[in-house]
Amino acid sequence: MSKREKINIPIEEINKQKEAIARVREKNDFDMQRSGKQKLAIIITYGCQQNENDSERLRGMLRDMGYSFTEDREEADLILYNTCCVRENAELKVFGNIGALKHLKARKPHLLIGICGCMMQQEHIVEQIKKKYKHVDMVFGTHTLYKFPETLEKAMNEAYTVIDVMNTDGYIVEDIPIHREGTVKAWVSIMYGCNNFCSYCIVPYVRGRERSRNPKDVISEVSQLVAEGYKEITLLGQNVNSYGNDLEADIDFADLLQMVNDIEGVKRIRFMTSHPKDISDKLIDVMNKCKHVCEQLHLPFQAGSNNVLELMNRKYTREKYLEIIRKVKQAIPDVALTSDIIVGFPGETNEDFEGTLDIIKQVEFDSLFTFIYSPRKGTPAEKMDDVLSKKEKQANFQKLLDIQNEISLKKNQQYLGKNVEVLVEGYSKNNPDMLTGRTRTGKIINFSGNEELIGTFINVLVEDVQTWSLTGRHVKEDI
Ligand code: 5AD
Ligand code: SF4
Repeated sequence: MSKREKINIPIEEINKQKEAIARVREKNDFDMQRSGKQKLAIIITYGCQQNENDSERLRGMLRDMGYSFTEDREEADLILYNTCCVRENAELKVFGNIGALKHLKARKPHLLIGICGCMMQQEHIVEQIKKKYKHVDMVFGTHTLYKFPETLEKAMNEAYTVIDVMNTDGYIVEDIPIHREGTVKAWVSIMYGCNNFCSYCIVPYVRGRERSRNPKDVISEVSQLVAEGYKEITLLGQNVNSYGNDLEADIDFADLLQMVNDIEGVKRIRFMTSHPKDISDKLIDVMNKCKHVCEQLHLPFQAGSNNVLELMNRKYTREKYLEIIRKVKQAIPDVALTSDIIVGFPGETNEDFEGTLDIIKQVEFDSLFTFIYSPRKGTPAEKMDDVLSKKEKQANFQKLLDIQNEISLKKNQQYLGKNVEVLVEGYSKNNPDMLTGRTRTGKIINFSGNEELIGTFINVLVEDVQTWSLTGRHVKEDI
């Protein structure tokens, strides 16, 4: 059996789900005719874009089963939590929310409550739900997401909590219906799982080993999105730079990026996440050459000291990281750089932390995603000892934020007085009178304008800047 045959799902499995979708739809149609009321669902998503993309598939399956969507938990017939377990606070939030639904379920016994996603791939969590949260109707993991129609049908018919969690790596399933969040930007997963086992990270345990999608499936999804009018595509994977390593075809991420760039009608391409150990000169060259690949790179360095990087099992040094950044800046001078950083990893001293600050000052990232280390059950770092106290870690974290805020503002100030190409995404959430969009470098920019501009590319003159965004005026020359 070839590698691909092992991970591509058998057709009978897909057909089983299609049949379950038809049966649930029939039942929902019947109920709706009798009650005169639409069946409503809500999905609450935590975590990364991969989870958001999974929720779009759950929404697609729900739509095909006859559900419409609501933002209001009180009026929902089905509430689904798509969970994240990367840090403890995300897990605590889910438990808090699920606990609070007990009263709602008591008032509305027909309400269905489901929990899915990464948290459910951990045995101790599923056990906790079985014991303490008996009002939950269904639990399923990341590898069994495609079986949601069958799980939901069972939950509709049974009083017990239906549990469908698989611990081996999942299949690659191409035929799941999808209902996307917006009409301008779309996420496309190019691979699933991670092989890196950074010592703090739970992802490889809950998402399994790296599995790359067939390039022809990726190309056909992007072509379809372009035909539907989507203007910006973000290619997703835990470590996109190792795309293709598990494929029989001789293809790597740089080749795929080039292929996506060459699709007729494609406008903007972004990708995340990249791992510094795998970033190649070829990729930097392709980013530079490809017209539609945006000038933006998210390259997590996590920590600035070689001791900590080794303890983290990151497989690069601070020198190697800085060398990559130097090459990227040289090839793409107006590139916007972002990174993930963990503060307070076990073993990190104040001196190690100074190394992190030093990288931040040297590179001058446009923005950072910063986290205080959170021990995760079953990871090697869980057993490592801390050097710094909680208070010291918190103080370092604040120091880092203060320094980065200054740098972010300074980076934004470089845009003052410039004309930038903006893809208009919609109305601003914080300021609903204004439109919002992003530059090619990923900067959020707000400006006045009317609804017809949504989904178009326009020129905006930057007139003011803040730490997290820009403000400007639409200048009416065509792009
Ligand atoms: N504690 C804190 N941050 C973490 N991340 C991953 N695992 C942990 C953890 N246990 C961060 C890393 C990663 C990002 C998605 O989340 O910075 O790049
Ligand atoms: Fe986690 Fe490291 Fe894999 Fe990223 S590369 S998902 S941090 S194990």
